[in-house]
Amino acid sequence: MEELSLEAARRFEELANLHVAREKPLSAALSGGSTPKRLYELLACPGRRIPWDRVELFQVDERCVPPDHPESNYKMIREALLDHVQIPVSNFHRMAAEKPDRDEAARKYAQEMAQVLKPSKDDWPHLDLVFLGMGPDGHTASLFPCSEALHEHVLWVRPNFSARMGNFRLTLTLPVLNAASEVIFLISGADKAETLRDVIEGPSRHSQLPAQGVQPVHGRLNWYLDQAAARLLVH
Ligand code: 6PG
Repeated sequence: MEELSLEAARRFEELANLHVAREKPLSAALSGGSTPKRLYELLACPGRRIPWDRVELFQVDERCVPPDHPESNYKMIREALLDHVQIPVSNFHRMAAEKPDRDEAARKYAQEMAQVLKPSKDDWPHLDLVFLGMGPDGHTASLFPCSEALHEHVLWVRPNFSARMGNFRLTLTLPVLNAASEVIFLISGADKAETLRDVIEGPSRHSQLPAQGVQPVHGRLNWYLDQAAARLLVH
């Protein structure tokens, strides 16, 4: 976990500094769950040279709970990263998934993305970098096997129900993930090895293995794995 987190933090720092010289700040979307927490802690280390005023951070997904709830992805990101770096408050775009009207919350988040990313008319928003995780069932973001949001081809953000967890989430949709310039999967642990082999080396089964649906149209797709997660990969 440490090595892949260090490599991911290095890549983030590299991209953030590349963007200092460019017109647009670095736009990055952060996943929740447990794997990326170490990455966020490393990004918060004082030794990092990250121009946080030139970074716009979004969430990949969020559980439909209050932002101070133990299950909240925002709470994890805030405690691991935001509380320790000088990022302008307006540069972190929180998914207000606790709102009773989830569809309205999703619409508002998409509007906020549009204001910052300024996509061309009728185009998808283009994030520079997306960090994703993968569950043992092959889900990524809050795109769960055989779930409705997997087939979304209009909305950028939408609610989705997690049958496994028995709760609703808000999630970026596959077209948004696939419009990114770079997608990095952070996957650790032996419990992911079989699914990872099926996702990377098995037949296409997007509905059952949502992580297979992440295929950036023009961007780069990179897998940051530890040995336990990668142990069944042949190639
Ligand atoms: C979430 C995440 C989710 C996560 C996977 C892997 O809201 O939980 O966005 O997609 O990336 O469930 O989680 P771990 O990193 O904890 O294995």
